[in-house]
Amino acid sequence: MPQEESHEFLDHDEYHARWEDNFWGKDGGLQPGQAFDAKRSSPALTDLLKQSGLEVAGKRVLVPGCGRGYDLVEFVRAGAAAAVGLELAPTAQREAAAYLADTLTPAELANAEVHTGDFFKWEHPTHAAWDVAYGARLPCSADYMDVLLPLGFTLVKEYAVPAELSHPGRGGKEAMLLFRKD
Ligand SMILES: C[S@@+](CC[C@H](N)C(=O)[O-])C[C@H]1O[C@@H](n2cnc3c(N)ncnc32)[C@H](O)[C@@H]1O
Repeated sequence: MPQEESHEFLDHDEYHARWEDNFWGKDGGLQPGQAFDAKRSSPALTDLLKQSGLEVAGKRVLVPGCGRGYDLVEFVRAGAAAAVGLELAPTAQREAAAYLADTLTPAELANAEVHTGDFFKWEHPTHAAWDVAYGARLPCSADYMDVLLPLGFTLVKEYAVPAELSHPGRGGKEAMLLFRKD
């Protein structure tokens, strides 16, 4: 990932362009299973939705840095009224839109959308508010606490993702942080 390649300081626009140039648009495009693309949503998210109490039925869910959109499928199938992905890389947005169209039924697809934009600047064209936001491996997550706590969020749960709920090769390296804003 860009910030892991080097500790040099990068221009903001250059940093963002790297996602398109170094990953999504490189060598014919990022294929499922390459680099960070695990070909599926995190098993930890599936567990959270099915067993551990994250309720999204009827809710509006934002997924910044959605990549190919695997998490959007999980949220739609868990009953979200809207699962909205946001991608900085234009190629990723197109790949996600194609993946959703291939994977979801027409009725499910009506509840999913994916946009191109920068999480720090973007606003949804019609809906400003979200019930749930989920970020998986969004690199700007360097310190969620620093960003979210001053905005009035409370950390309600934090745990190391059990190895059996991690993607292969990522066991012991993942954590789940749940924040709430009342
Ligand atoms: C490590 S990948 C993870 C993708 C996906 N969440 C997954 O788990 O497969 C991070 C993604 O976030 C996107 N991204 C990085 N910074 C972003 C930003 N500021 N706004 C929106 N998307 C961003 C990148 O283009 C990349 O596709």
